[in-house]
Amino acid sequence: MALNARYGLNPPHSEVVRAARLLAPGRALDMGCGAGRNALYLGQLGFEVTAVDINADAIGMLRSIVEREGIDSIDARQYDINQADLGTIYDFIACTVTLMFLDPARIPAVIADMQACTRPGGYNLVVAAMDTPRHPCPVGFPFKLAEGELRDYYEDEGWELVKYNEDLGTLHSGARFQFATLLARKPA
Ligand SMILES: C[S@@+](CC[C@H](N)C(=O)[O-])C[C@H]1O[C@@H](n2cnc3c(N)ncnc32)[C@H](O)[C@@H]1O
Repeated sequence: MALNARYGLNPPHSEVVRAARLLAPGRALDMGCGAGRNALYLGQLGFEVTAVDINADAIGMLRSIVEREGIDSIDARQYDINQADLGTIYDFIACTVTLMFLDPARIPAVIADMQACTRPGGYNLVVAAMDTPRHPCPVGFPFKLAEGELRDYYEDEGWELVKYNEDLGTLHSGARFQFATLLARKPA
């Protein structure tokens, strides 16, 4: 049985799976890791993973999986992403369905910190909810991206957009709104 299934976790995010196909294993950061579905996947692929989340229970669950499985490639830590103070350089930073839970006033600093903490030639993956005139987001997330906003954060800094879309998605609840999906490479 796959590791995620053994612990009742969902499979890794499909965009993490796609991004990982393009990347050589290196140092990865999973921002807002939850119980670790993506961190465990990246760890199995040979990445050295730091997994951070504000939720102590989620970090505790990931740590207990890591311990029981004898995994030494995942370091799970409680951390508030709003601090924008990562302090380490990574080859790959993944932030899937987490940005929308952050303090809107901290988003520019959080993204600038992610970019600064990526090695030249390294990658950021972001998937986050949007709120647009055509598809207003009915969910009360504290932060929602505007059209083109995520793309601009990266293009303005000269990053190469390996993938970018603002496709319509559907939540389990049936709510339909756009998600921005970005995989970008920092100039080498
Ligand atoms: C919808 S879950 C996504 C989990 C994971 N990225 C995934 O793709 O399955 C959002 C996660 O963001 C975390 N989170 C929310 N605000 C945070 C913050 N300020 N700092 C760190 N993590 C935060 C939550 O605890 C939760 O685990």
